Amino acid sequence: MGKAFDWIYSRFGIKESHKGLLKRTIPGNVNYSYCLGGMAFIFYCTLLISGMLLSSYYIPSEKEAFQSVVRIMRVANLGLLIRAIHKWTANLLMLSILLHTLRVFANKAYRPPRELNWIAGAFTLVLSFASGFTGYLLPWDQKAYWATVVGTNMIATIPLIGNSLLLLVRGGPEVTGFTLVRFYSLHVIWFPLLMNLLLWAHFHMIRKQGISGGL
Ligand code: HEM
Repeated sequence: MGKAFDWIYSRFGIKESHKGLLKRTIPGNVNYSYCLGGMAFIFYCTLLISGMLLSSYYIPSEKEAFQSVVRIMRVANLGLLIRAIHKWTANLLMLSILLHTLRVFANKAYRPPRELNWIAGAFTLVLSFASGFTGYLLPWDQKAYWATVVGTNMIATIPLIGNSLLLLVRGGPEVTGFTLVRFYSLHVIWFPLLMNLLLWAHFHMIRKQGISGGL
């Protein structure tokens, strides 16, 4: 095994170029609460992988979405397990991000020079909630449908732009198959892409500024 890795390293040069990445000094007074960001990242990666697997069976159409989820649960190999992993990990991601935010807040790590990283982090929080909301519609059952009707209705209460925004989000005045396709596109393409960009910026700044250390 060691030889195989050495061969890959000798071609890739990973050992050399990643020395700086792996050998970092961290403040002495960090504790387990500093693992919450890393946990959120592990959950995010699990969501990406399980979501990619689900997407090979899920059909984002008004007529077939519900049946395709039933097929995932009853027919697809390990489908039930992968769907459960996706659902549970989504909840765990929310929890870990919220606790991570609390940890950062309690340590006052939002202060300069980390204020921009706090802002980048805040966007990941919003995106995570938006991903949860768009994903909730995809099973296309009664609960998903009415949750989306109620959730999107709130958009109309935004002054001035509320009604136009509602039309944009729903793809029409009502929640229909157009909404489903729109939410699917946001859930599997736009939000993960944005999230990857934000996380890259988040980690880049953490590397540049280092971990803040406890109070
Ligand atoms: C998917 C979402 C997120 C992931 C994967 C993530 C990941 C991480 C990781 C791995 C760290 C370094 C270790 C740690 O402090 O736990 C970190 C630090 C940090 N995060 Fe996040 N984070 C996320 C969301 C957020 C949010 C929502 C905020 C704030 C609104 C935020 C603000 C920060 C700040 C300011 C630091 C630097 C903390 C310090 O130096 O003590 N992050 N993040």
